[in-house]
Amino acid sequence: MEMTPHRWEATSAYLSEVFGRPDRQLSTHRERARAAGLPDIAVSPDVGRLLHLLTSLANNGRGAGVAVEVGTLGGFSGIWIARGLAPGGRLYTIEPEKKHAAFARDEFKSAGVADRVTQIDAAAPGAISELGARLAPASVDLLFLDAIKADYRAYVEAAETLLKPGALIIADNALGSGDWWIDTPSGTNAARDAVDAFNRWMATGGRFDCACVPIREGVLIARKRA
Ligand SMILES: C[S@@+](CC[C@H](N)C(=O)[O-])C[C@H]1O[C@@H](n2cnc3c(N)ncnc32)[C@H](O)[C@@H]1O
Repeated sequence: MEMTPHRWEATSAYLSEVFGRPDRQLSTHRERARAAGLPDIAVSPDVGRLLHLLTSLANNGRGAGVAVEVGTLGGFSGIWIARGLAPGGRLYTIEPEKKHAAFARDEFKSAGVADRVTQIDAAAPGAISELGARLAPASVDLLFLDAIKADYRAYVEAAETLLKPGALIIADNALGSGDWWIDTPSGTNAARDAVDAFNRWMATGGRFDCACVPIREGVLIARKRA
């Protein structure tokens, strides 16, 4: 069941050839992040491309006016999202690790998106609840989850009143991560079990329409029902 890294590399190379290579800022990001000692766990360019497209499709095709990301790391996924926002739109991106946030600050500047990104140097889900003081209820068009897998449900619950009806919720690692895949036997890996429970909660709770795209480690895409 698990896709081998060989398959990933071949698939990514094909997707970049056909659907467009990331610009120089994004294609050299990984090198700079590694040199700075950041963990090599950013989304792949193909997932970045998907995030960009979904951000531009959010808000009834007008582009997200407000997007929230949980787990900035070095800003790779954030740059893709920021570039898909509606004119005047804003990305709030949450990251408690000071080293990651500082690196991301420079990347957002070099990518030319710093003017539309607000970094929140704190941990979710608390940081999401605190966003409620800055943002009106039902004002967020897109929520991207890419931090602690066991807390995905808590992130969605913290954001729920901020999400517009029709808002997109996107969760990376819906099918796997470093040491587990979704067919790992239940009861043997806590992160797998937490993501499995999250997927089922999203799919059956009646509040979201969901699909899971088996790209890389799986991307859950959901829309909040009206
Ligand atoms: C997989 S990385 C994010 C990758 C990033 N989205 C990208 O693709 O460029 C996960 C990040 O979540 C951060 N993180 C850990 N706990 C967190 C929390 N409670 N709230 C927000 N971010 C958290 C980690 O420090 C790490 O930088």
